[in-house]
Amino acid sequence: MKALILSGGKGTRLRPLTFTTAKQLIPVANKPILGYVLDQTSQAGIEDTAIIIAPETGGFVKDYVKDGSSWGIRVEYITQEPLGLAHAVKTAKHFLNNDSFVMCLGDNLLGEGINKLVEKFNREKLDALILLKKVENPGAFGVAVLDENGNVVKLIEKPKQPPSNLALVGVYIFSPRIHEAIERIKPSWRNELEITDAIQELIDMGCNVKSEILNAWWLDTGKKDDILTANSIVLDEYIKYEICGSVDNQSKITGRVKIEKGSVIVNSIIRGPVAIGENSYIENSFIGPHTSIGNNTKIFESSIEHCVILDNTQVREIERLEDSLLGKDVKVSKNNKGRGALRLMIGDYSEIEV
Ligand code: G1P
Repeated sequence: MKALILSGGKGTRLRPLTFTTAKQLIPVANKPILGYVLDQTSQAGIEDTAIIIAPETGGFVKDYVKDGSSWGIRVEYITQEPLGLAHAVKTAKHFLNNDSFVMCLGDNLLGEGINKLVEKFNREKLDALILLKKVENPGAFGVAVLDENGNVVKLIEKPKQPPSNLALVGVYIFSPRIHEAIERIKPSWRNELEITDAIQELIDMGCNVKSEILNAWWLDTGKKDDILTANSIVLDEYIKYEICGSVDNQSKITGRVKIEKGSVIVNSIIRGPVAIGENSYIENSFIGPHTSIGNNTKIFESSIEHCVILDNTQVREIERLEDSLLGKDVKVSKNNKGRGALRLMIGDYSEIEV
């Protein structure tokens, strides 16, 4: 079995961060989302992996994953214009050949591995195995209708009137028959070749299509608040108390807090779950639950809670920073001379709430 990981797209909803990185590389608990996806495919024993990249951000993805050896896998990169998930499969045909493959979206996080899915697909000799999750807003996703025996009878991409609340989670396993189905479908109203339509075509061709319902959490991290939620959940689940940096006697660390090497905490309170990267400096501050702080970041006289702060960023004298996502090389500080006026230099597509 091979793996096809989709890490292209323009990431417009996460601008301006996606001007200088791929959306799949935004870190959650200080690790890029794509890293968790590769953990799951490699832990399922899949070595041959292709990563679909966009012309604009593919270089960032290559810099992070390199040849895949950090995960013990072999990686090939395939550039694709964003013309749909089925189009990505078509573009990767030379890599996929006649093998079965698991396709994962590089910006989706699952609270469970995919080993059991791969076993079921092989055991039952399926042509497609899809993963479903009950959601409150099915119209935003591909939606499945099951019969009383749990067989997939119908799939619709982003229906206006959803026939069920079962959304297609971004993990699919296919036999090579999917290529035949993709050849038969036409682009959708959004001018994309939809994988949902291709799976419907497989059903119409009489192929063996089954589903599994995901009981663990699933996060599609397309927007700022999704990243903050994903960060909270991953910190809650994975962070253990581990202090490799230095903490002075005036500071107080409570709960599950990870501080990596070279970081220094001076006269501050850190209340977990919190992750702090390498060589960061925090002084006279409060870092509250569900916050991740990257490498080489400096925080002075500030109070921060439920935030994701990336590398090389500085925060000074900010009384209360909450629910925020700060990119790399950002400076946020209080203006003591400005009579309460805001003085901003903000990149295109930024969002500020004052
Ligand atoms: C895609 C699929 C959709 C699926 C979703 C999961 O949507 O087309 O069926 O439910 O991923 O994240 P898109 O991200 O292209 O809107």
